[in-house]
Amino acid sequence: MDYKALLYLVVSLICFAGLEQTYAAGTNNWTGKLLVVPLDGSHWTGLKAVAEEMGRRGHTVIVVMPEISMRMGPGKHYITKMFPVPYSRDFFNKMMAESSHHVTTSEDSLLMSVVSKVNQMKKMFEFVASTAESLLKNQELIDFLREQKFDAVLTDPVLPIGPILAYNLSVPVVNMLRGMPCGLDPRVISCPSPPSYVPRFHTRNIDRMTFGQRVVNMLVTMLEVPLCKIVYGLFEEIQSNFIQRDVSLMEILSSAAVWLMRYDFTLDFPKPMMPNMVLIGGINCDIRNPLTKQ
Ligand SMILES: *[C@@H]1O[C@H](CO)[C@@H](O)[C@H](O)[C@H]1NC(C)=O
Repeated sequence: MDYKALLYLVVSLICFAGLEQTYAAGTNNWTGKLLVVPLDGSHWTGLKAVAEEMGRRGHTVIVVMPEISMRMGPGKHYITKMFPVPYSRDFFNKMMAESSHHVTTSEDSLLMSVVSKVNQMKKMFEFVASTAESLLKNQELIDFLREQKFDAVLTDPVLPIGPILAYNLSVPVVNMLRGMPCGLDPRVISCPSPPSYVPRFHTRNIDRMTFGQRVVNMLVTMLEVPLCKIVYGLFEEIQSNFIQRDVSLMEILSSAAVWLMRYDFTLDFPKPMMPNMVLIGGINCDIRNPLTKQ
């Protein structure tokens, strides 16, 4: 081996060792601060798993949750910050029982069914809004969260309390979701979602549509914008009371850094993606166990 080749070898070995060292430091020693703003019910399951794992890996994880909830509670590897809410456990239980009653029973006529569903939805929204306001108007808690200087906020944006809070704290947002009602997610991500190809909810269409099916898909798509106004109008109000500057909810939602999508193309129809969208459908799967031998 000549002298030059040997020199190259030594230099590249040193460089490689150096690289490896910084890489190791990056993976083992760096720890950050994560704020988790979860939603209740099934939305909590995935977020809790991530919060626990991030805490287990040495990051400081703080989860804020209402004092009264269905499923949310403390964990082994994260810090829990509870905030008081203006309703009692009894009211909460009654509300949940009513709402499941409405889901499982059907009224005599279509009109009655629509009226009762709308009423129920309104009640639910008012309830969600009072929970959101209990958090955003809790100045002591907000000040505490601001002092923590978080690196990121992990949240479920379906009810956009987390994104509103993160915007106010000026912390980047990581959203984790299955999808937003009224097809809002592709719109705020600026992700193409052509109605000729991406099937809309409740149409029973697939990604290959006949002309007639495309027309129906197109009409449903046109309903999305007004539907979003109804669903998210309330949050628009909460947000403008809290943020007190000229910014819309859509702008807040579209400023998210990363979108972790809880679906997978083995189960969902393929559709366009943006570079800041990551498919994490497998997170819903149970840990694999060997089959029992019969
Ligand atoms: C955060 O909210 C407070 C009011 O609670 C407001 O005064 C402040 O301007 C907000 N900051 C940002 C960055 O939106």
